[in-house]
Amino acid sequence: MTATLTNPLRVGLRQERVISPQCLVIFGASGDLTHRKLIPALFDLFRQRRLPSEFAVLGCARRPWSDDEFRQKMEAALASKIADDPESWKTFSAGLFYEPVDLQKSDDLVRLGKRLEQIDRQRATRSNRTFYLSVSPAFYGSGCRALAGAGLLADPNRSRVVIEKPFGRDYASAQELNRVVKSCGQENQIFRIDHYLGKETVQNILVMRFANTIFEPIWNRNYIDNVQITAAETVGVEERAGYYETSGALRDMVQNHLTQMLALTAMETPGRYDPEAIRNEKAKVLQAARLADEAEPWNCCVRGQYGPGGNSSDPLAGYRQEPNVDPNSTTETYVAMKLFIDNWRWQGVPFYVRTGKRMPKRMSEVVLTFKEAPVHLFDSSGGGAPGANQLILRIQPNEGADFRFEVKAPGSGMRSRPVDMDFSYDESFGEPSDEGYVRLLADAMLGDPTLFTRSDEVEAAWRLYTPLVELIEQQPWQLPVYPYEASTWGPAASDSLLARDGLLWRRP
Ligand code: BG6
Repeated sequence: MTATLTNPLRVGLRQERVISPQCLVIFGASGDLTHRKLIPALFDLFRQRRLPSEFAVLGCARRPWSDDEFRQKMEAALASKIADDPESWKTFSAGLFYEPVDLQKSDDLVRLGKRLEQIDRQRATRSNRTFYLSVSPAFYGSGCRALAGAGLLADPNRSRVVIEKPFGRDYASAQELNRVVKSCGQENQIFRIDHYLGKETVQNILVMRFANTIFEPIWNRNYIDNVQITAAETVGVEERAGYYETSGALRDMVQNHLTQMLALTAMETPGRYDPEAIRNEKAKVLQAARLADEAEPWNCCVRGQYGPGGNSSDPLAGYRQEPNVDPNSTTETYVAMKLFIDNWRWQGVPFYVRTGKRMPKRMSEVVLTFKEAPVHLFDSSGGGAPGANQLILRIQPNEGADFRFEVKAPGSGMRSRPVDMDFSYDESFGEPSDEGYVRLLADAMLGDPTLFTRSDEVEAAWRLYTPLVELIEQQPWQLPVYPYEASTWGPAASDSLLARDGLLWRRP
């Protein structure tokens, strides 16, 4: 009897998770992602003894590399990891293969099929395959069609497809891509990856909320005043202008990573921990989300673009001066917006979301600010009324959580002062958590879709931002890109977005 890929829906997610014998096929294997993220993650899984011995990786791209050339390139990229454990690399790399493939050429697909059969014989991978499309998004649809046409997706128990972001450019293109992809296989064969969902601290949002009795009763409009979700980066556009110029911060970060953090923060309690129960709730809450002012979106969204900054010893180029960026580019590198969620839990609670490149600090976090005490008996030691309680979920760096509350300031008076109760992953658990791709690759190979985005979630997220996407394309002057100096917290207009509601962005 030949084993098929593990089906978590059948075996139950609580049982031990064992990756079945299989071949992971990476299309776009000559690209960055393969040597920066995928192969290192697989090597980590190998060293953690989580890969079966009947395992292989087949790298595919148009370059005419041999198996050995592919192994050498990966070895060079992983040099520091390998230095710690050359023996493991020797065994692991024996399972790395390469086949030149152009997904648009039917002859190449026939050759690919034969190569996969050969690998099945050589490595006992039993016709189980996970296909990872690390190719240009323009080829996601045709890539799936090519695989289906070659009969490689025919058995839903033996074949899966992992697709990188961006999944569509707007609501209509996401719908169309979903239609094409679904015509090639079943929804449970499609794994749309969002690497934020691979982060331990993003998953921890669910555990904090649903494994404690103290938070859930107050996690609603009666107690929470507002929510801020931030993903700030210190890096600029780096070498990725070609992609970023067509994307911008809204498509690159908000539609996916920030929206996933929002969904986990705001979703209802799932009936059980299983992929469909979790994804149903995420889809539902996204369907209830909307821009704070849909009729006039410029009132609830601010775009920015970093200009030059830094200092004389470490000058930072402005976005328009970066290599391959149009000197008149109006691509946003910063975006902030205000959203509402029209449901019983969140009606009237503003969700402020922001992301930017070239910020002063790398920091991703979710901040829940609770309502102020109805009556102030004490003054704050800083003067005026005490501040509101805050729960800060630190996604990265310094992963953990922070609860801010008022205590009596020492001394003869009765003044209050805010203090922090701090939990740090590092201090509590010591060992660093896995890179997001380690978790996500393992889950894809296990067939566990919980941390992958389902088609209705993707569409709901695009629907939410479509008024902005259309406005930027059709009437860009309505949403100008305000310049901000590199290494500052974005344009002043984004502070005004909160100031209008009497609030400030949290500045750590
Ligand atoms: C990627 C974006 O998805 O996420 C990048 O394309 C961004 O522009 C990156 O830099 C941020 O990821 P992380 O894990 O460093 O927060």
